[in-house]
Amino acid sequence: MDKPLLRALAGRPVTPAPIWLMRQAGRYSPEYRKVRARTVDFMTLCFTPELAAEITLQPVRRYAMDAAILFSDILTVPHALGREVRFEEGRGPRLEPLRNLKDLSRVDPSAVVARLGPVYETLQRVKAELAGGPTALIGFAGAPWTVASYMIEGGSSRDFAAAKALAYGSPVEFQSLIDILVEATAAHLIAQVEAGAEALQIFDSWAGVWPEADSRRWCLLPTAAIIRRVKAAHPLVPVILFPRGVGAMYEAFARESGADALSLDTTVPLAWARAHLQAHVPVQGNLDPLALLAGGEAMETRVRAILDAFGDAPFVFNLGHGVVPATPLEHVARLVALVRGA
Ligand code: CP3
Repeated sequence: MDKPLLRALAGRPVTPAPIWLMRQAGRYSPEYRKVRARTVDFMTLCFTPELAAEITLQPVRRYAMDAAILFSDILTVPHALGREVRFEEGRGPRLEPLRNLKDLSRVDPSAVVARLGPVYETLQRVKAELAGGPTALIGFAGAPWTVASYMIEGGSSRDFAAAKALAYGSPVEFQSLIDILVEATAAHLIAQVEAGAEALQIFDSWAGVWPEADSRRWCLLPTAAIIRRVKAAHPLVPVILFPRGVGAMYEAFARESGADALSLDTTVPLAWARAHLQAHVPVQGNLDPLALLAGGEAMETRVRAILDAFGDAPFVFNLGHGVVPATPLEHVARLVALVRGA
């Protein structure tokens, strides 16, 4: 397999390092805003293969990124589990807060795959467009805890009070929600591979809010269970895990999750990650998206530090979290050139 991203994820150093960016297709780009303006509703965009495929390919065309990441959202899974999911302009996602797990336990994970058919059609279309080229296609899903937090809170949250209250107060019930998400998410990821995804990323964006034992129980173990299911079906497809904000727990995720690579958030110290993480698995990251927004010397110094720390071992250049909407296009172009040695 000679795609640079897949070589790096297979544990081989690649020079220059392959690069893609979380949220590389999004509001900072005029071509995204143009397609977005044609659909009132963000979820409709996610479920319209022609448009979602077009958006997936935009950053590949503009910057020749080493990967295309499926244009979709982690909240398509709760939608497929029968929960109402809406995106309100400027307010982020809105879900009907989960109060009763009985409704959910009746949902069959295979129904999830049937309901997410348009997502797989998007992947098939993108795969056909990328055929014969060097760009890898990444599928993704949210990790059970992060997705459960949106389902319980009904949207984004500052302190996860409702979700943590359920986990601490009714752990058996909370576990049953996590178990449903493990099955549904594994089925969704396997179906993405069957539709053409060559690598997968699992986003645990809110993993960094738990004490150690709870981090293992609600983040590490469920994610490891998903990875085992994916590997049983497709042993060779690499899985990147992004347990954002877990600090020193990153080491446990490197050793115990079964992930092929770890995506590092912005705060992970470079020399520590080189010694304790990259010694076990390829790493991806971790430029501050706000340094990309700032550009200039602030960005260039930090890019060089990341390349110096990770560049001689298996590594994928990325941000520590998603591109923010105000990011100038020229800064992204400069970043790509810098990583490629310009
Ligand atoms: O990375 C990519 O380019 C692929 C597409 C992608 C989106 N969301 C598109 C999107 C991916 C991989 C995601 C993952 C996602 N979605 C996560 C995990 C990564 C992270 O950012 O922590 C989370 C937590 C979500 C949930 C979500 N979706 C939120 C909180 C929001 C609102 C905040 C915001 O940035 O608008 C979204 C909406 C969303 N998902 C947009 C995009 C391009 C913006 C929608 C718009 O155009 O108005």
